[in-house]
Amino acid sequence: MDTGLEQVQQLLIKYKQEHVLDFLKRLDPIEKDKLIQQILSIDFVQLSSALNKVKHQKVVDIESIEPMEYQRLDQFTKEQRDMYAEEGWRLLRNGEVGVIVVAGGQGSRLGHEGPKGTLDIDLPSGKSLFQLQAERLLNLSNRAAQSIPWYIMTSPENHDATIQFFQSHNYFGYPKTDCIFFQQKTMPAIDQQGKLLFSSPSQINFVPSGNGECFSSLYHSGALEDMKRRGITWLFYYNVDNAIIKAADPLFVGFSASFDNTISTKAIKKVDPEEKVGVLCLKNGRPFVLEYNEIPDALLQQRNSQGELLLGLANISIHMFRYDFIEKYARHKVPYHVALKKIKYSDTNGTIITPDEPNAYKLESFIFDYFPFAEKTTVLLAEREEEFAPVKNKEGADSPLTARNQILNLHKKWLADSGVDLAKLGLQDRFIEISPLLSYGGEGINEGIDKIIKQQGMK
Ligand code: UD1
Repeated sequence: MDTGLEQVQQLLIKYKQEHVLDFLKRLDPIEKDKLIQQILSIDFVQLSSALNKVKHQKVVDIESIEPMEYQRLDQFTKEQRDMYAEEGWRLLRNGEVGVIVVAGGQGSRLGHEGPKGTLDIDLPSGKSLFQLQAERLLNLSNRAAQSIPWYIMTSPENHDATIQFFQSHNYFGYPKTDCIFFQQKTMPAIDQQGKLLFSSPSQINFVPSGNGECFSSLYHSGALEDMKRRGITWLFYYNVDNAIIKAADPLFVGFSASFDNTISTKAIKKVDPEEKVGVLCLKNGRPFVLEYNEIPDALLQQRNSQGELLLGLANISIHMFRYDFIEKYARHKVPYHVALKKIKYSDTNGTIITPDEPNAYKLESFIFDYFPFAEKTTVLLAEREEEFAPVKNKEGADSPLTARNQILNLHKKWLADSGVDLAKLGLQDRFIEISPLLSYGGEGINEGIDKIIKQQGMK
């Protein structure tokens, strides 16, 4: 027997995965070899510790949780806003700011074929989420006279499709060398007995193992080295599904860099206790995010003396990480969260079984699991209308329709705030979409009004 197979057999026996031998013995030598390589790539220690966690799952100790301090954007004076924005522009001009979008998720709730970033939310222009993001970044790059490196985290299942989409759209005008695609890590799905699941007789069912893989995947892909080479000192992080994201927002960049904390985060007020957002808080005195499905009932509805939710700082996944923090923790493993899901699987004959009930565990690490490593985080409370338009569900709340309407409403507000007489221009009943290339956050409306009028009704 060759040594590869022998090593694999020992591993499988040690970690109680003997059923894999039934798959192995039916394969031809080439397929067998491929499966052996997959088995050898698995971190069985992490896998067992995740399973152990399921058995000993603890609810969060309520006593350890307390609200987190924050600063309010709406209480900043004009001088403070200008000061932070100027600091942000300085860093952008210096080329010290990188941006990372986590786009490796599966988007199963959305039912969209293809990477989430390719979604067209039915704006008049027909722009995809990726195009909106690219153009907002281009606006800043043009004004800073410095291109902003854009790190795009994909997963094995959507990596090629993502790159193809960028190529077929000519990178939306973005410099190709500043779009850095890298793949995130995956972990195998396991059944409730802890056995590895297969997607075909020669393929273990590997699934993207959460956005918390982003630091280690930056490191392993060489993207972290690329950041170092470019002299990036701060990384702006966001979710691909936030249609209104102010990527690399200069004010937030400057605000983050003005405090001696390695992480900062932009939050909004959570108003509905049931909203599916994590909440920023302190756990045992350290920065923490309690994910929406892990908030104990007793804390979910609790209010403070002003009648606001006690844990009312919604995590909208907009963070700034200082480069040295990422470098320090890129090789540090955080434990996986385990979620029971419905996952299709293959038997040894290749018959695919589609379960009716949740049957398997998916392992995910979360980016904010790194928060407690920072002594303190800087938190900026901003306005929902301008910052957060998530596209999570096909219909209803947090859908393409709600995101599209939020963008159109914001753009109409920009016109009104700039003193544009919509009625006079015959635009009062029209959907108005303003290209991010023309205005990033409502600036330059009057100067660009002719172009804005021309751009209406493009679709
Ligand atoms: C996430 C946050 C939640 C926050 C909400 C705001 C996490 C774990 N939770 O919830 O606290 O309130 O966003 O919208 O982040 N992704 C990957 N690889 C993966 C899994 C996910 O890149 O393996 C990406 C997704 O493409 C997406 C982002 O991470 O851009 C968020 O992932 P998702 O699983 O959709 O988290 P939410 O449940 O929306």
